[in-house]
Amino acid sequence: MTRRTVRIAMNGVTGRMGYRQHLVRSLLALREQGGLDLGDGTTLWPEPVLVGRREHALRAIAERHGIEQWSTDLAAVLADPSVEIYFDAQVTSAREEAVRQAIAAGKHIYCEKPTGTTTVGALELARLATAAGVKHGVVQDKLFLPGLLKLRRLVEGGFFGRILSVRGEFGYWVFEGDWQSAQRPSWNYRSEDGGGIAADMFPHWEYVMHELFGPVRTVQALTATHIPQRWDEQGKPYDATADDAAYGIFELEGGIVAQINSSWAVRVDRDELVEFQVDGTQGSAVAGLRKCRAQHRSATPKPVWNPDLPATERFRDQWQEVPDNGDFDNGFKAQWELFLRHVALDEPWRWDLLAGARGVQLAELGLKSSAQGRRLEVPELSL
Ligand SMILES: NC(=O)c1ccc[n+]([C@@H]2O[C@H](COP(=O)([O-])OP(=O)(O)OC[C@H]3O[C@@H](n4cnc5c(N)ncnc54)[C@H](O)[C@@H]3O)[C@@H](O)[C@H]2O)c1
Repeated sequence: MTRRTVRIAMNGVTGRMGYRQHLVRSLLALREQGGLDLGDGTTLWPEPVLVGRREHALRAIAERHGIEQWSTDLAAVLADPSVEIYFDAQVTSAREEAVRQAIAAGKHIYCEKPTGTTTVGALELARLATAAGVKHGVVQDKLFLPGLLKLRRLVEGGFFGRILSVRGEFGYWVFEGDWQSAQRPSWNYRSEDGGGIAADMFPHWEYVMHELFGPVRTVQALTATHIPQRWDEQGKPYDATADDAAYGIFELEGGIVAQINSSWAVRVDRDELVEFQVDGTQGSAVAGLRKCRAQHRSATPKPVWNPDLPATERFRDQWQEVPDNGDFDNGFKAQWELFLRHVALDEPWRWDLLAGARGVQLAELGLKSSAQGRRLEVPELSL
């Protein structure tokens, strides 16, 4: 076995996503398994170069995990020809500028969503990266979740017949930060810092709908800031200027109607923090992060509406668990592996910066639809 080292500049590794999902659960997990076996006698060995603003925080992470290189000087890291890939998990508002610099330095790009704060900016990144001939990708982790992989299996196996509708319910209570600390960063609640639940979650819903059911053709959304005041990481009160709930209706190609509620001001009475119910002429399914259950037309009970009597059936017992039929890896890691194979072996890859721009576009149009109180067309983006 030959070992090929791939050096990856990782910006934003002190953050929640950068540290836990991308560094620890993806690249370091790959190293723990001996690297990525490319199947041609080569093992790819990811070598992270940590980049960020706070030296002591970077040093602490590097020491904890035996990583040799870290820097607070992005330009210097990008000028290093041995660094092949630039990865960005910074706050959203800092992404465009850094990715632009990395493209100019000729690095392959992989980054968190949303890829930008405006459609114009996100599309520009896709154009620049394509013109520079670098490989580029955006995180679309939900596609790699066990629950959605099983849902995809049902779709591809023709289980649903004609799909009629999709209903998604996402959210949980995010504490305000006064008497219990908030479990999300405060910038998420300030629109001037790139926050807001539509900007955060519509990019996810865009690729989930697009990949599983078809492209989104229209959007109608109503956003709300249900909790107007919150407390930040230092315990200081601040005004929440961004939406903390977004109620969206999407028409997909072929007439499927998708309705997705996203909220950080809702208490959970579901099996998982996100669930999608899909109804089709031949069957229905409910998929979450890990589980998926289905009900076929032939096994559909016949409830009769009668509010005078207590429910006679236990409706949630009438579904069948879709089996795993395999082992599922962490979704972030699974996508990293595909991106690294795309870089090393030129294997096919479709989750590129143009796909990232589609997500930004849906968020932008969702917010516009809410502000204007009307349904908006979602035009097809191209380079
Ligand atoms: N794929 C997913 O499921 C998912 C989930 C959550 C967040 N995200 C995305 O990941 C990115 C990071 O989110 P997070 O929740 O990890 O955020 P976070 O606040 O925990 O981390 C932000 C990171 O950006 C750095 N940073 C750079 N410039 C900054 C600035 N001016 N102010 C504050 N921090 C700055 C911080 O040091 C830190 O490393 C966001 O773009 C977010 O949309 C993706």
